[in-house]
Amino acid sequence: MEVVGRPLHIPFNRPFFSGNEFEFIQEAIKSWQLSGDGAFTKKCHAFLERELGAKKALLTTSCTHALEMAALLLDIKPGDEVIVPSFTFVSTVNAFVLRGARPVFIDIRPDTLNLDETQLKRLITPHTRAVLVVHYAGVACEMDPILQIASEHGLAVIEDNAHGLFGKYKDRNLGTFGCLATQSFHETKNFTCGEGGALLINDPQYIERAEIIREKGTDRSRFFRGQVDKYTWVDVGSSYLPSDILAAFLYAQLESRDCIQSRRRRIWERYDSGLKQWAEESGVKRPSVPAHCEHPYHMYYLLMPSLEKRQALISYLNSRDINSVFHYQPLHLSTMGQRFGGKAGDCPVTETVSDRLVRLPFYNDLTEEEQSAVIMAITGII
Ligand SMILES: Cc1ncc(COP(=O)(O)O)c(C=O)c1O
Repeated sequence: MEVVGRPLHIPFNRPFFSGNEFEFIQEAIKSWQLSGDGAFTKKCHAFLERELGAKKALLTTSCTHALEMAALLLDIKPGDEVIVPSFTFVSTVNAFVLRGARPVFIDIRPDTLNLDETQLKRLITPHTRAVLVVHYAGVACEMDPILQIASEHGLAVIEDNAHGLFGKYKDRNLGTFGCLATQSFHETKNFTCGEGGALLINDPQYIERAEIIREKGTDRSRFFRGQVDKYTWVDVGSSYLPSDILAAFLYAQLESRDCIQSRRRRIWERYDSGLKQWAEESGVKRPSVPAHCEHPYHMYYLLMPSLEKRQALISYLNSRDINSVFHYQPLHLSTMGQRFGGKAGDCPVTETVSDRLVRLPFYNDLTEEEQSAVIMAITGII
């Protein structure tokens, strides 16, 4: 089918302003507090704790940094092993490798593209300390069996919930299952401040130390609360807290939760219905969302029949000025992954999915006209 009229440029992602970003930034500036943990940071913390039911939320400069905090909080040491999907962003694993951990890569399920919980037990050794779960596209991992196996073996579960803010598993919010969980507010996420993240703490034993690690290893948070009369160096740490200017931007987005999520839902559902027949006829798989999972409409992807067909689709869409992108390359086959012994065939589902997955343009103000152009271009190709 031909797309008529002047071709539109349709990027893969476009930042979205929900309305109050500039006003809140001005407020932060006028309050003379530009550093971290100002009024807007506190508002974001309260919002996340209230809406998710997490015991404590701490904004961080990125999800990567929240993951680094998690590795520090668990006291990960050289020789420890962490089980992690090969199909994830490098930060999920790098944060733990930085502390000397050895990654043990687990394959994913072919339906949700989440770690395959049936393979978990056989990868556990006496050195295993943690299981890192990633809710791909915000669709929940099978948390019941994962938590059961982890508790039988005394392992920590950390949720990398970069994609999954406001997603649910059996009616409970993602980010509240692991002892620790991490969020991303990078520009490509549903809610953003450009670069940012959060650590969610569900096991209260980690709260006090998390505040210290985030504040350069000092008890400055206790000092600001008036609990000590001076602050000092008490532990290892770094500077993981964002400026209140970023928090002001983020808070404007978070308070627009309903508007943002309903826009994204409309876009996701329109892709899914508009591409259903074509996908069925072309051997293309659409995202699979189990009935007990509510996802936050983070991304829309297609699994093409082959690498060649995936590349052809990306090139064709590019030629129409529509940017679609592939996603994670298998970590066990990366340069670093191979140093840890990864080799072809270790995670066969990951290997084929990485070759075949394509993500379609998806942003909060993608217009109907733009989305129609994408759908018509795709359904017209094969
Ligand atoms: C699963 C996952 N974890 C972590 C990250 C890193 O997030 P950030 O850019 O906020 O550090 C990403 C990035 O997109 C991701 O996809």
